Amino acid sequence: MILDLFRLDGRVALVTGANRGLGQAAAIALAEAGADVASLSRQEPRETEAVIRGLGRRFLALQCDLLAASVEELQGIVERVVRELGRLDILVNNAGIIRRAPALEYREEDWDAVLQVNLKALFFLSQAAARVMVGQGGGKIINIASALSFQGGILVPAYTAAKHGVAGLTHALANEWAKHGINVNAIAPGYMETDNTAPLRADPARFRAILDRIPAGRWGRPEDLRGVVVCLASRASDYMHGAIVAVDGGWLSR
Ligand SMILES: NC(=O)c1ccc[n+]([C@@H]2O[C@H](COP(=O)([O-])OP(=O)(O)OC[C@H]3O[C@@H](n4cnc5c(N)ncnc54)[C@H](OP(=O)(O)O)[C@@H]3O)[C@@H](O)[C@H]2O)c1
Repeated sequence: MILDLFRLDGRVALVTGANRGLGQAAAIALAEAGADVASLSRQEPRETEAVIRGLGRRFLALQCDLLAASVEELQGIVERVVRELGRLDILVNNAGIIRRAPALEYREEDWDAVLQVNLKALFFLSQAAARVMVGQGGGKIINIASALSFQGGILVPAYTAAKHGVAGLTHALANEWAKHGINVNAIAPGYMETDNTAPLRADPARFRAILDRIPAGRWGRPEDLRGVVVCLASRASDYMHGAIVAVDGGWLSR
């Protein structure tokens, strides 16, 4: 039956930034669909762990700072998931940071940090995961891109460059790894209510200007991502390679 295509029983997912925001919603959705979940973050994912264990799924918390992690450490993260949970079927590259400043004043350390977390770590985690998935005969990689994978944004040059890079990498890796049964796709969220956008929501004029431009008439919420995440993690998306699915209330269609 069609709904069975979306079931993830017996699968193992690694979600970066699963402790809060969009990553937390993604991790819980995958667990609700049947997957066991490993979480990577700096802070302890206590709330996510409680919910996922409450669903009867296994949960592994991995502490890692993607700003400082070497490629070998990222490989070690993937090896630990396989050692402790038995396999790795799904990688959600969600962890990300944003640093806002005018391009004329943008500092090198902010540029390097944003590119490191949002793009370099995403690539090398994908590489480590894909090596396991090739051996298993397939897998699912879901990158969290952004509306700023397509637009310029305001005061976020490094973020925009990184998210354009995420879109490009999604295509490049999909191209290379489709033959191994690995589906590499991305989700481009619009403006969502998380810590990432707290400064925008705290500025009444900016909040209103953004809201007025969203056809759906509201900001997005983390749970708005759940259906697409499960679809891209499941057999339902087996013929999707290199797609970037906007979940943005229509923002990019405007
Ligand atoms: N919110 C939006 O409107 C929006 C729109 C488009 C795209 N996105 C993207 O969606 C993703 C999730 O964003 P969000 O809105 O959920 O943001 P958020 O609430 O700020 O959460 C960011 C997540 O990334 C993790 N993270 C950040 N730096 C890290 C590091 N150095 N090492 C390990 N983990 C790190 C955080 O873990 P710790 O708590 O441990 O730091 C946290 O779980 C990001 O890639 C973001 O760019 C968000």
